Amino acid sequence: MSVQHIMVIGAGQMGSGIAQVCAMAGYSVVLQDVKKEQIDKGIAIITKNLARQVEKGRMAEEDMNDTLARITPVLTIQSAAEADLVIEAAVERMDIKKQIFAQLDEIAPARTILASNTSSLPITEIAAATKRPEQVIGMHFMNPVPVMKLVEIIRGLATTDEVYETIEEVTKQIGKVPVEVNDFPGFVSNRILLPMINEAIYTLYEGVATKEAIDEVMKLGMNHPMGPLTLADFIGLDTCLYIMEVLHEGLGDSKYRPCPLLRKYVKAGWLGKKTGRGFYVYE
Ligand code: CAA
Repeated sequence: MSVQHIMVIGAGQMGSGIAQVCAMAGYSVVLQDVKKEQIDKGIAIITKNLARQVEKGRMAEEDMNDTLARITPVLTIQSAAEADLVIEAAVERMDIKKQIFAQLDEIAPARTILASNTSSLPITEIAAATKRPEQVIGMHFMNPVPVMKLVEIIRGLATTDEVYETIEEVTKQIGKVPVEVNDFPGFVSNRILLPMINEAIYTLYEGVATKEAIDEVMKLGMNHPMGPLTLADFIGLDTCLYIMEVLHEGLGDSKYRPCPLLRKYVKAGWLGKKTGRGFYVYE
């Protein structure tokens, strides 16, 4: 299966990062969002990231311009009609994802592979919203996409080997390392990462240490680039809570219960870096 034209759904932090790395690898990319401001913001972030590469002497200005020219911003998903691969990076809600995949299934040609960047929702269930479940797959990128090497590739129940191999190849083409994972709640990355973050929040909740001390222990003691509470702010506390709920419900074990302090912060609207306040305050 040959991939040349990629469509990315959602121009948020993840979608714009995915569009950037695909365009840098030479793919022609359509970046879609329903909000014009979000697309403008996404393109501005991509431009800033590429300009930094030029400044640092890692990219020629001409390559930056060519990369930007390969990205076409659009407001509707009709462009899926020309895509070989669609990577969905919209909001983490099953009802919305199912709606998007059902629409994509109507618009995209039979050859098109439909991938989701979901961080924890079942690929098999998303695939069931289409008439091509064998061509639906998970491509879970890590934040910040331009920096992080991993793409977790999740096979749905019906995903074919041919589709898996195509996605593995595209992942390598964009300079990332593919890791194969089966479809279970939280996959591998968030099955391990989020309970650690949740435990760090419990540690704070129970007064074992201050937030700074908890982060320092994990940074200096375990060589993590960010402490777990800083990382939670960076991911978004609403996203952290959502993933814990997916783990709790999907695996049915009380060890995945979200910490009440996490719920409280989310209810307060303290969602982390994106709202200016989470465990820490951001100017
Ligand atoms: N976009 C693009 N580039 C970025 C970036 C961003 N958002 N943030 C940092 N960078 C680049 C910087 O420009 C810098 O590049 P240069 O070497 O060219 O200067 C480089 O990354 C290092 O950045 P900094 O020196 O500013 O800071 P740092 O050394 O602390 O690195 C970090 C920043 C890469 C984010 C690092 O702190 C880190 O690895 N943190 C952990 C990230 C992580 O765990 N991500 C996974 C989150 S979980 C997830 O994504 C899955 C999910 O489903 C929830």
